[in-house]
Amino acid sequence: MELKWEEREWDEDEFPRGASPEKFFRDSKEFANLMMMYKCAIREVRTKLEVLDDEFSVRYKRNPISSIQTRVKKPISIFRKLKKYDLELTPENILKGLHDVAGVRVVCAFIDDIYMVAALLANQDDITVLQVKDYIKEPKANGYRSYHMIVEIPVFFSRGKTPMKVEIQIRTIAMDFWASLEHQLRYKKDIEDVEGHEEISGRLLECADTISDTDRKMQEIKQMIGEFNDLS
Ligand code: GTP
Ligand code: MG
Repeated sequence: MELKWEEREWDEDEFPRGASPEKFFRDSKEFANLMMMYKCAIREVRTKLEVLDDEFSVRYKRNPISSIQTRVKKPISIFRKLKKYDLELTPENILKGLHDVAGVRVVCAFIDDIYMVAALLANQDDITVLQVKDYIKEPKANGYRSYHMIVEIPVFFSRGKTPMKVEIQIRTIAMDFWASLEHQLRYKKDIEDVEGHEEISGRLLECADTISDTDRKMQEIKQMIGEFNDLS
Protein backbone atom coordinates (compact mmCIF):
# COMPACT_ATOMS: atom_id res chain seq x y z
CA MET A 1 0.00 0.00 0.00
CA GLU A 2 1.23 3.44 -0.84
CA LEU A 3 1.99 5.58 2.20
CA LYS A 4 0.11 8.83 1.97
CA TRP A 5 -0.13 12.01 3.98
CA GLU A 6 -3.50 11.12 5.44
CA GLU A 7 -5.94 13.08 7.50
CA ARG A 8 -8.92 12.00 9.52
CA GLU A 9 -12.23 11.65 7.68
CA TRP A 10 -15.25 13.65 8.78
CA ASP A 11 -18.39 12.48 10.54
CA GLU A 12 -21.74 13.11 8.88
CA ASP A 13 -23.14 15.19 11.74
CA GLU A 14 -20.04 17.31 12.20
CA PHE A 15 -20.55 19.75 9.40
CA PRO A 16 -23.45 22.14 10.09
CA ARG A 17 -24.60 22.78 6.57
CA GLY A 18 -25.96 19.32 5.98
CA ALA A 19 -23.47 18.85 3.20
CA SER A 20 -19.92 17.63 3.12
CA PRO A 21 -17.26 20.22 3.88
CA GLU A 22 -15.65 19.24 0.60
CA LYS A 23 -18.84 20.18 -1.26
CA PHE A 24 -19.13 23.46 0.63
CA PHE A 25 -15.57 24.41 -0.28
CA ARG A 26 -16.10 23.41 -3.90
CA ASP A 27 -19.36 25.33 -4.24
CA SER A 28 -18.08 28.50 -2.64
CA LYS A 29 -16.05 30.51 -5.15
CA GLU A 30 -14.13 32.26 -2.38
CA PHE A 31 -12.99 29.01 -0.78
CA ALA A 32 -12.26 27.34 -4.10
CA ASN A 33 -10.09 30.34 -4.97
CA LEU A 34 -8.28 30.14 -1.64
CA MET A 35 -7.53 26.45 -2.05
CA MET A 36 -6.21 27.17 -5.54
CA MET A 37 -3.91 29.81 -4.01
CA TYR A 38 -2.54 27.30 -1.49
CA LYS A 39 -1.92 24.78 -4.26
CA CYS A 40 0.04 27.43 -6.15
CA ALA A 41 2.11 28.22 -3.04
CA ILE A 42 2.94 24.53 -2.78
CA ARG A 43 4.07 24.52 -6.42
CA GLU A 44 6.38 27.47 -5.75
CA VAL A 45 8.02 25.70 -2.82
CA ARG A 46 8.26 22.41 -4.70
CA THR A 47 10.00 24.14 -7.61
CA LYS A 48 12.52 25.75 -5.27
CA LEU A 49 13.30 22.35 -3.76
CA GLU A 50 13.59 20.68 -7.17
CA VAL A 51 15.94 23.41 -8.38
CA LEU A 52 18.21 22.89 -5.38
CA ASP A 53 18.17 19.13 -5.85
CA ASP A 54 18.91 19.39 -9.59
CA GLU A 55 21.79 21.79 -9.02
CA PHE A 56 23.20 19.54 -6.37
CA SER A 57 22.98 16.42 -8.50
CA VAL A 58 24.92 18.07 -11.33
CA ARG A 59 27.58 19.43 -8.98
CA TYR A 60 28.00 16.48 -6.67
CA LYS A 61 26.37 13.54 -8.49
CA ARG A 62 24.15 12.96 -5.50
CA ASN A 63 20.57 13.82 -4.58
CA PRO A 64 20.06 15.26 -1.11
CA ILE A 65 16.28 15.06 -1.61
CA SER A 66 14.90 11.59 -2.13
CA SER A 67 11.23 12.55 -2.38
CA ILE A 68 8.74 15.36 -1.95
CA GLN A 69 5.12 14.90 -0.89
CA THR A 70 2.57 17.66 -0.73
CA ARG A 71 -0.95 18.10 0.51
CA VAL A 72 -3.58 20.76 0.92
CA LYS A 73 -5.36 20.42 4.24
CA LYS A 74 -8.75 18.78 3.88
CA PRO A 75 -11.77 21.09 4.30
CA ILE A 76 -12.92 19.13 7.35
CA SER A 77 -9.53 19.57 9.04
CA ILE A 78 -9.59 23.30 8.26
CA PHE A 79 -13.09 23.46 9.71
CA ARG A 80 -12.05 21.57 12.86
CA LYS A 81 -8.96 23.66 13.46
CA LEU A 82 -10.80 26.98 13.12
CA LYS A 83 -13.38 25.67 15.54
CA LYS A 84 -10.62 24.73 17.99
CA TYR A 85 -9.34 28.31 17.87
CA ASP A 86 -12.90 29.65 18.12
CA LEU A 87 -12.66 31.23 14.69
CA GLU A 88 -15.43 31.46 12.14
CA LEU A 89 -15.10 29.73 8.80
CA THR A 90 -13.99 32.63 6.61
CA PRO A 91 -11.20 32.90 4.03
CA GLU A 92 -9.56 35.69 6.10
CA ASN A 93 -9.45 33.50 9.20
CA ILE A 94 -7.93 30.66 7.23
CA LEU A 95 -5.26 32.92 5.72
CA LYS A 96 -4.41 34.62 9.00
CA GLY A 97 -5.14 31.95 11.59
CA LEU A 98 -3.87 28.71 10.05
CA HIS A 99 -0.31 27.94 9.07
CA ASP A 100 -0.60 24.38 7.84
CA VAL A 101 -3.17 24.53 5.04
CA ALA A 102 -0.37 24.06 2.51
CA GLY A 103 2.03 21.28 3.45
CA VAL A 104 5.27 20.15 1.84
CA ARG A 105 7.13 17.13 3.16
CA VAL A 106 10.75 16.78 2.06
CA VAL A 107 12.47 13.46 2.58
CA CYS A 108 16.26 13.74 2.59
CA ALA A 109 19.03 11.17 2.50
CA PHE A 110 21.17 12.28 5.44
CA ILE A 111 20.62 14.37 8.58
CA ASP A 112 22.93 17.12 7.38
CA ASP A 113 20.97 17.33 4.11
CA ILE A 114 17.99 18.45 6.19
CA TYR A 115 19.86 21.40 7.65
CA MET A 116 21.40 22.25 4.30
CA VAL A 117 18.02 22.26 2.51
CA ALA A 118 16.46 24.29 5.34
CA ALA A 119 19.26 26.87 5.28
CA LEU A 120 19.25 27.19 1.49
CA LEU A 121 15.50 27.76 1.50
CA ALA A 122 15.63 30.22 4.40
CA ASN A 123 18.33 32.22 2.59
CA GLN A 124 16.20 32.83 -0.50
CA ASP A 125 15.10 36.44 -0.39
CA ASP A 126 11.46 35.83 -1.27
CA ILE A 127 11.05 33.39 1.61
CA THR A 128 10.28 34.56 5.13
CA VAL A 129 10.69 32.01 7.88
CA LEU A 130 7.90 32.52 10.40
CA GLN A 131 8.57 29.58 12.70
CA VAL A 132 10.99 26.71 13.15
CA LYS A 133 10.43 23.60 15.28
CA ASP A 134 13.46 21.36 15.40
CA TYR A 135 12.14 17.99 16.50
CA ILE A 136 15.51 16.46 15.57
CA LYS A 137 17.47 18.35 18.20
CA GLU A 138 14.48 18.04 20.53
CA PRO A 139 12.42 14.99 19.58
CA LYS A 140 8.82 14.73 20.75
CA ALA A 141 8.24 12.54 23.81
CA ASN A 142 6.89 9.75 21.57
CA GLY A 143 10.12 9.72 19.52
CA TYR A 144 8.90 11.77 16.53
CA ARG A 145 11.71 13.52 14.68
CA SER A 146 11.56 16.06 11.83
CA TYR A 147 12.53 19.64 11.11
CA HIS A 148 9.45 21.84 10.72
CA MET A 149 9.38 25.29 9.17
CA ILE A 150 6.49 27.63 8.56
CA VAL A 151 7.43 29.93 5.70
CA GLU A 152 5.70 32.71 3.86
CA ILE A 153 6.15 32.93 0.12
CA PRO A 154 4.69 35.47 -2.31
CA VAL A 155 2.56 34.02 -5.09
CA PHE A 156 1.86 36.21 -8.11
CA PHE A 157 -1.75 36.26 -9.28
CA SER A 158 -3.46 38.49 -11.87
CA ARG A 159 -4.43 41.02 -9.19
CA GLY A 160 -1.01 41.15 -7.59
CA LYS A 161 0.98 39.06 -5.16
CA THR A 162 -0.27 37.40 -2.02
CA PRO A 163 2.02 36.13 0.74
CA MET A 164 1.04 32.54 1.45
CA LYS A 165 2.02 30.35 4.41
CA VAL A 166 3.41 26.89 3.81
CA GLU A 167 4.37 24.26 6.38
CA ILE A 168 7.53 22.44 5.36
CA GLN A 169 8.48 19.22 7.13
CA ILE A 170 12.01 18.03 6.41
CA ARG A 171 13.14 14.59 7.57
CA THR A 172 15.43 11.70 6.66
CA ILE A 173 14.21 8.52 4.97
CA ALA A 174 14.58 6.84 8.36
CA MET A 175 12.54 9.48 10.21
CA ASP A 176 9.89 9.26 7.49
CA PHE A 177 9.77 5.49 7.82
CA TRP A 178 9.02 5.77 11.54
CA ALA A 179 6.56 8.67 11.24
CA SER A 180 4.60 7.00 8.43
CA LEU A 181 4.22 3.72 10.29
CA GLU A 182 3.46 5.40 13.59
CA HIS A 183 0.82 7.49 11.84
CA GLN A 184 -0.72 4.38 10.28
CA LEU A 185 -0.89 2.69 13.66
CA ARG A 186 -2.35 5.75 15.34
CA TYR A 187 -4.75 6.38 12.47
CA LYS A 188 -6.44 3.01 12.89
CA LYS A 189 -7.03 3.33 16.62
CA ASP A 190 -6.45 5.75 19.41
CA ILE A 191 -3.44 4.10 20.99
CA GLU A 192 -4.49 5.38 24.41
CA ASP A 193 -7.63 3.21 24.17
CA VAL A 194 -5.75 0.00 23.50
CA GLU A 195 -4.92 -2.29 26.37
CA GLY A 196 -1.21 -2.14 27.13
CA HIS A 197 -0.83 1.22 25.41
CA GLU A 198 2.17 2.09 27.59
CA GLU A 199 3.99 -0.97 26.33
CA ILE A 200 3.06 0.00 22.74
CA SER A 201 4.27 3.59 23.22
CA GLY A 202 7.47 2.28 24.79
CA ARG A 203 8.12 0.01 21.85
CA LEU A 204 7.44 2.78 19.36
CA LEU A 205 9.87 5.02 21.21
CA GLU A 206 12.46 2.25 21.19
CA CYS A 207 12.07 1.93 17.40
CA ALA A 208 12.44 5.70 17.01
CA ASP A 209 15.67 5.66 19.01
CA THR A 210 17.08 2.70 17.08
CA ILE A 211 16.27 4.42 13.80
CA SER A 212 17.82 7.66 15.01
CA ASP A 213 20.96 5.79 15.99
CA THR A 214 21.19 4.31 12.50
CA ASP A 215 20.67 7.77 10.97
CA ARG A 216 23.61 9.08 13.01
CA LYS A 217 25.80 6.14 11.99
CA MET A 218 25.02 6.68 8.30
CA GLN A 219 25.85 10.34 8.73
CA GLU A 220 29.21 9.41 10.31
CA ILE A 221 30.00 7.02 7.45
CA LYS A 222 29.27 9.81 4.99
CA GLN A 223 31.68 12.05 6.86
CA MET A 224 34.33 9.31 6.83
CA ILE A 225 34.04 9.02 3.06
CA GLY A 226 34.57 12.75 2.71
CA GLU A 227 32.88 16.07 2.55
CA PHE A 228 31.70 15.42 -0.98
CA ASN A 229 28.75 17.72 -0.61
CA ASP A 230 30.45 20.85 0.67
CA LEU A 231 28.60 23.64 -1.10
CA SER A 232 31.55 26.08 -1.10
P1 GTP B 1 -0.94 20.24 14.43
O1 GTP B 1 -2.13 20.85 15.07
O2 GTP B 1 -0.96 18.71 14.43
O3 GTP B 1 -0.68 20.79 13.09
O4 GTP B 1 0.28 20.58 15.39
P2 GTP B 1 1.20 21.87 15.51
O5 GTP B 1 0.60 23.03 14.81
O6 GTP B 1 1.60 22.03 16.94
O7 GTP B 1 2.46 21.47 14.65
P3 GTP B 1 3.63 20.41 14.81
O8 GTP B 1 4.79 21.10 14.17
O9 GTP B 1 3.84 19.88 16.19
O10 GTP B 1 3.13 19.17 13.92
C1 GTP B 1 2.64 19.37 12.66
C2 GTP B 1 2.63 18.10 11.84
O11 GTP B 1 3.79 17.29 12.07
C3 GTP B 1 1.48 17.14 12.07
O12 GTP B 1 0.32 17.56 11.41
C4 GTP B 1 2.06 15.84 11.49
O13 GTP B 1 2.04 15.85 10.08
C5 GTP B 1 3.51 15.92 11.96
N1 GTP B 1 3.66 15.32 13.29
C6 GTP B 1 3.79 15.97 14.46
N2 GTP B 1 3.89 15.11 15.49
C7 GTP B 1 3.82 13.86 14.97
C8 GTP B 1 3.86 12.54 15.54
O14 GTP B 1 3.98 12.34 16.74
N3 GTP B 1 3.77 11.50 14.67
C9 GTP B 1 3.64 11.67 13.32
N4 GTP B 1 3.56 10.59 12.54
N5 GTP B 1 3.58 12.90 12.77
C10 GTP B 1 3.67 13.98 13.57
MG1 MG C 1 -1.02 20.22 11.15
